[in-house]
Amino acid sequence: MPQDLNHLESVALSELSRIETPGELEEWRVRYLGKKSALTAALRSLGTLPPDERRALGARANDVKKNLQSRFDAKQQAVSVSSIGQSIGVAPLDVTLPGRPFPMGRLHPITRVIQEICAVFARMGFQVIEGPEVEKDYYNFEALNIPQDHPARDMFATLWLDQKDDSTARLLRTHTSPMQVRIMETHKPPLRFVVPGRTYRYEATDATHDWMFHQVEGLAVDIDITLRDLKETLFEFCRSVFGRDTGVRFRCDYFPFVEPGGEVAIECFQCKSSGCRLCGGTGWLEILGTGMVHPDVLARCGIDPTVYSGFAFGMGVERITILRYGVDDIRHFYSGDFRFLRQF
Ligand code: PHE
Repeated sequence: MPQDLNHLESVALSELSRIETPGELEEWRVRYLGKKSALTAALRSLGTLPPDERRALGARANDVKKNLQSRFDAKQQAVSVSSIGQSIGVAPLDVTLPGRPFPMGRLHPITRVIQEICAVFARMGFQVIEGPEVEKDYYNFEALNIPQDHPARDMFATLWLDQKDDSTARLLRTHTSPMQVRIMETHKPPLRFVVPGRTYRYEATDATHDWMFHQVEGLAVDIDITLRDLKETLFEFCRSVFGRDTGVRFRCDYFPFVEPGGEVAIECFQCKSSGCRLCGGTGWLEILGTGMVHPDVLARCGIDPTVYSGFAFGMGVERITILRYGVDDIRHFYSGDFRFLRQF
């Protein structure tokens, strides 16, 4: 009898180990643990044995029953998990596995600086608007007081898309200033806009020049806008972006579409204005061009220059980013090198 029990146990366990479905498992349970199973019969027949044998055999039969029951319970768990997995078409889920890292993307440094610049002007009541990168000669030059053959065209090495010499010729915009004209043609003063976007120049690339870069243009037009509004707006911008203590220099410059025209520079933070390589020994870093919108430009856009006045400015985003973060080569921005980009 004990040999029978040992045999029964080992056969039952080896069958159990091959079971894969809940149906097979139920059959196994009926066969080995059910009311009509050999084990139940053995336990029932104990009463007919002499007391000594009954005790020994009874203990052994109960052990076998307990063992089969606990193996059955464990198997039932495993089979039900894997059958859920099969029915939803995935491998069994191990909830104790450590999680996989979820790589977070980040914004490109130029995008971040553009957002920061626009946020500063938004606080001062400027709206953000974008415009076309493929422009007409009219908007990029003519309407901005730069007619055919005007020497100022040399300031902007142009990538032309059409080979014709009239104001409908298409080009890649060399600055964001054409949006001054488009805004004034379609909106009535008071106007306060900033325009971030890509600009293009036909230039050999080096550490400080690229053929594609970004500018943020600004335009404010209203009754009684003066040079003082221009200066205070741009000084506030410089203080917000470069810090309250940074010195700001404002001086004259020439652009055909503004009168008077100016240029804003900030104190070189590397040498604190004593002169170094970054600032070319001058102590100052130029960051933007600006001026009062030329009356002829206003008039061309249908805005009466005897009633309205305005100011405009344009800044190079790569240049500001280079100065902010101490980047030594403009070409890093578009090289796609993660070792560079991950630092921001
Ligand atoms: N568009 C000029 C440039 O690209 C900058 C500028 C904008 C100057 C607005 C004056 C007013 O150099």
